[in-house]
Amino acid sequence: MTDRIIVGITGSSAPQLGLTVLQALAQVPSVETHLVLSAGATRSIEAEMSVSPFVFEELADVVHSTDDLGAAISSGSFRTRGMVVVPCSMRTLASVATGTTTDLVSRAADVCLKERRRLVLVTRETPLNLIHIRNMETVTLAGGIILPPVPAFYHRPRTIDDLLRQTAGKILDLFDVPHRLFTRWEGMPSAENVTDAAR
Ligand SMILES: Cc1cc2nc3c(=O)[nH]c(=O)nc-3n(C[C@H](O)[C@H](O)[C@H](O)COP(=O)(O)O)c2cc1C
Repeated sequence: MTDRIIVGITGSSAPQLGLTVLQALAQVPSVETHLVLSAGATRSIEAEMSVSPFVFEELADVVHSTDDLGAAISSGSFRTRGMVVVPCSMRTLASVATGTTTDLVSRAADVCLKERRRLVLVTRETPLNLIHIRNMETVTLAGGIILPPVPAFYHRPRTIDDLLRQTAGKILDLFDVPHRLFTRWEGMPSAENVTDAAR
């Protein structure tokens, strides 16, 4: 079976996260990426990056229109490894949590849940209200994974790109896709190593 991963990008802040994931997956020839941008994504990409959606689309193997509910990824019979929605707006989270699949992003996510395939929602909003939290609980109970883009600092990030790459690496880990996006934590340096380094 072709190793297909669906990448959904919605209209929350930080479309840069979606671009970083697409760039990383484009380095893996065995993975076929299927991209779908929500209507909101087109707006946030323009507002926050001042680039055309084409910059995202040219990194994907297949691009679907979010209005195309007849697309291959709209059916469970089209086999995929699963889907990541990165970033995921609260609107799309609500749509997935309630099963109201009004566009291809939420329909493809719904298909992943019903087929018991990997679904990762990189939810971006802060602070969260009870509706957001309950929707995250519902998706989690249905088998999805909520992965907010919360930065870690053990890899000593120095740039925004370092932070983007760390979150992208956490996403690729959930799909067992090999990568070198960040340096993994290998435990605290031993006293001996610290002494060696200090010499
Ligand atoms: C520049 C910009 C940033 C936004 N950031 C967020 C955000 O961080 N989280 C969120 O849930 N919605 C955010 N929104 C609002 C969503 O775009 C809006 O709710 C939209 O209807 C989401 O639809 P979609 O999920 O189909 O993309 C933002 C909108 C704009 C224009």
